[in-house]
Amino acid sequence: MNQTFSPSGPLRGSAVAPPDKSISHRAALLSAMSRRPVHVSNYLRGEDTLSTLAAVQALGARVRGDGDDYIIEGTGLRDCARAAEIDVGNAGTLMRLLPGWLAGLPGGRWTLDGDDSIRRRPVKRIAEPLRGMGARIDARDGRLPPFTVQGAQLRGIEYELPVASAQVKSCVLLAGLLAEGTTTVIEPVPSRDHTERMLVGAGIEVQRSGSRISVATAEDIFLESIAVPGDPSSAAFHVAAALLVPGSSVTVANMGTNWTRTGFLRIAERMGACFEGELEEPGARLTPNEPVCDLRVDFGELRGTVVEPGEVPLAIDELPLVALLGCFAEGETLVRGAQELRVKESDRIATVVEGLTALGGDIEATEDGFVVRGTGGLRGGRLVAHGDHRLAMLGAVAGLASREGVEVVGMEAAAVSYPRFSADLAQMLVN
Ligand code: S3P
Repeated sequence: MNQTFSPSGPLRGSAVAPPDKSISHRAALLSAMSRRPVHVSNYLRGEDTLSTLAAVQALGARVRGDGDDYIIEGTGLRDCARAAEIDVGNAGTLMRLLPGWLAGLPGGRWTLDGDDSIRRRPVKRIAEPLRGMGARIDARDGRLPPFTVQGAQLRGIEYELPVASAQVKSCVLLAGLLAEGTTTVIEPVPSRDHTERMLVGAGIEVQRSGSRISVATAEDIFLESIAVPGDPSSAAFHVAAALLVPGSSVTVANMGTNWTRTGFLRIAERMGACFEGELEEPGARLTPNEPVCDLRVDFGELRGTVVEPGEVPLAIDELPLVALLGCFAEGETLVRGAQELRVKESDRIATVVEGLTALGGDIEATEDGFVVRGTGGLRGGRLVAHGDHRLAMLGAVAGLASREGVEVVGMEAAAVSYPRFSADLAQMLVN
């Protein structure tokens, strides 16, 4: 589906941030592992997270509910179905977290596969630590989906992540619940900590000391209810639109402010953005709490900045938007240490550079990021989403702020994380 986003007048009013994708995936998975029925409210009904609900059902969990409220009756930590073919669709988080649980269940054998994009995304990063713990993982060419997981009695491990990845960290920690002894993950730099917080809420002792995160064997996990906060990564599109379209003033309500997810807002502040709303302080203690706020954003003049490698995991999904802001900012914007962008839903270094160049931007790919020279705005044109939800939404925001509008080729991709995106955006446009 192609959709055109014309240059717009100011954005005004408010949008409720849609439910958080990362937290919804974890809510479904941990509820399936729970011994008690769990009430999950504000679950994201996006394509990715519906894949996760289908996956836990295939494993024996019962899911009841309507709208975005569900009761998930899990199987308990050790009693899920010992064989299933799981279709992860487009969901990298499902593909990387679920094997952590399955790997620790002796006698089980499961196959995971997904769409064309997922078949290009690396599995080796979870296969390595899971093999080190005693599981058997067989992947296509040793590194790609489809792949099978054969469960075993695992041994605890001390695993230093070669790349900062919350998905890999979460996978190893989930496996740690079923492993003998203690399992420790060492992160090169902090990444989103939703799994750790939810495990603490489920009665698991999670030790965090500096860059080391440890869990011990668990008999079972017990969750009661999970209220999913609004997704700061989805909210970021409205934030960017308000920053770029002159005269805008927008409030994004119920947005998650977990500090491991708000790196983009700190980068935007450095570029000159002003926000009203209480964000969690970086380095906050590990509690089950996922804080939220209503964030107000006004249009503002921006200047270029340098995004350093240590900031990358805290803003990983918003880096395409940093490139977009860079096109409108004064001076140069440089993103370094972001080679992980190459293995997202698309190669986001290549697709962002191609997309923004097609709209008149002055942007160049580097090996591990990009450099953007601000030219006071974008002309507009046609942007191909390459099946990548975040690229489609970036094109939409670019269109509103451009001089001639943007036709997004493949706008339907937005449904992966934010099915109501176009409607929410339209409702903030003042005609
Ligand atoms: C996610 C972690 C990030 C992010 C992805 C969701 C998660 O991936 O890009 O959209 O929910 O844990 P990596 O952990 O691979 O960086």
